[in-house]
Amino acid sequence: MSNHEQHETEHRPVQRKEMSRRQFLSYTLGGTTAFMMGGAVLPMVRFAVDPLLVKKGTGNLVKVVEESKITTEPQEFKFKIHQVDGWYESEPELVAWISKGADGKIFALSPVCKHLGCTIFWNTNGKNEYDCPCHDARYSFDGKNLAVANSPLDEYEVKVDQGFVYLGPIMANTRS
Ligand code: FES
Repeated sequence: MSNHEQHETEHRPVQRKEMSRRQFLSYTLGGTTAFMMGGAVLPMVRFAVDPLLVKKGTGNLVKVVEESKITTEPQEFKFKIHQVDGWYESEPELVAWISKGADGKIFALSPVCKHLGCTIFWNTNGKNEYDCPCHDARYSFDGKNLAVANSPLDEYEVKVDQGFVYLGPIMANTRS
């Protein structure tokens, strides 16, 4: 290399890929915005989706009472269920009126009056009926609506297994 060429090379501007001020600002602001949006949106997405990812329990039946204690006279039994609503877990206490029907089947009625939701009781008027103290709705032994309410009492799903009565979700009355 001649002296002249060497001199030229030394003074040639170095070719660097430089970022313009505009590009730098775009990248910085874009990155910051994406980071902040991620921080705000990801928890919301997780909140919405997380309950769907939780494994559900296998059975939803609850052991309530020994089968031998159930008679043809309705009796009130209280039991707790484990309830999961999204991230909120609770153990509300429920009530069932359980008896053995003329067909020999054990069944359990919900105590919620089908008129406006008060709590019914068995045989408070001596007529072998369920009565509601709020507006005098009456229901038969099987939960059939006799007065005021326009639909029968709901039933719990019932399973009898190895000498115990298990109750499940509420369902429409199957006996009236
Ligand atoms: S709520 Fe039961 S009769 Fe009205």
